[in-house]
Amino acid sequence: MPSLEPQKPNKLMQREEGSTMSLLFPDDWHLHLRDGEQMKDVLKHTIQRFRRAIIMPNLNPPICTEEQAENYRKRILSLLSSEDSLESQFTPLMTLYLTDQTSKEEIKRASRNDMIFGMKLYPMGSTTNSSEGVRHLAQLNPILSLMEELDLPLLIHAEETDPAIDIFDREGAFIDRYLQETVERFQGLRIVFEHISTSEAVDFVISSSERVAATITAHHLLMNRNSLFEGGIQPHNYCLPLLKTERDRLALVQAAVSGKADFFLGTDSAPHSQSSKERSCGCAGIYTSHCALELYAEVFEQEGALENLEGFASRNGPSFYQVPCNTDRIELIKKEQSIPSSFPYGSSRLIPFRSQRKVAWQISK
Ligand code: NCD
Ligand code: ZN
Repeated sequence: MPSLEPQKPNKLMQREEGSTMSLLFPDDWHLHLRDGEQMKDVLKHTIQRFRRAIIMPNLNPPICTEEQAENYRKRILSLLSSEDSLESQFTPLMTLYLTDQTSKEEIKRASRNDMIFGMKLYPMGSTTNSSEGVRHLAQLNPILSLMEELDLPLLIHAEETDPAIDIFDREGAFIDRYLQETVERFQGLRIVFEHISTSEAVDFVISSSERVAATITAHHLLMNRNSLFEGGIQPHNYCLPLLKTERDRLALVQAAVSGKADFFLGTDSAPHSQSSKERSCGCAGIYTSHCALELYAEVFEQEGALENLEGFASRNGPSFYQVPCNTDRIELIKKEQSIPSSFPYGSSRLIPFRSQRKVAWQISK
């Protein structure tokens, strides 16, 4: 099967087959776990690789209140047995979904609750399950002001939803029309620019103060927009924000491997059943949890920057979210693994990233 990813020149410092490296255990700072039977099938991949994950609240209906987040958290924990050491060591970090109705009382409750790590802003209509997202961004200002005062982070799906804007330009337009101004207006608000996909986003984060950080997915580091159409339409490479140009991809790679504290690991692993991806109006989302850390290792190795992987995967996120790093370690082995064609997903199946292809690294289990 032809590679759908851009051919990368082999740089120096490629590791020998069989060599190992160890990292402080990483965390995933942007994850979709879904719920119920489906959650059970994807959570097992995450806990093999990550000690903590920021859990996205875009369920249907969304997680908008402290009570809903606590119940969702309990459902996650109920799938983790206390006897299994991997399972007992995983901690879900909850977020709440902002709507036009979010009250100041809810923000106060969220900020007092140690389980809640931030508020997620989905502009209405921007992505999967965002129909209850924020319609009038300007009207959110009193809420953002309170979040600034209470030091509760804002996590943003940063895409303009104006249909007049070209779909590939939505991230840049969001920076110009909203983000720049919001960052200036709320000088103390901590903001995560989620799953950045463009060189404009990289420049914006670098030029902002350290309270503005960004997550970067493995799939945006490994693919450009050609992968959407190579050899025919590729629904399993469809995610939001969309994959962008090779120039954008290279800017993301440079940012991720740079060692800069502004950038950290967030997979945005977003499972959908095979049938909901492959139908005439397929869902956005790429599933990478089954080999996420290994994929990032591929990118860092290609760039001769494996020594910066620990910062990106295990240190920069905790530093932004003001929590300690994990103290135990995970081992990566330079040894190819084959990715199965599909995984169970509740009563259905999901097609994972790199399905029926190989990943250059493994984790030791
Ligand atoms: C995510 C999903 O499916 O929940 N999809 C995606 O393409 N990334 C939503 C999101 O993070 O935009
Ligand atoms: Zn997401």
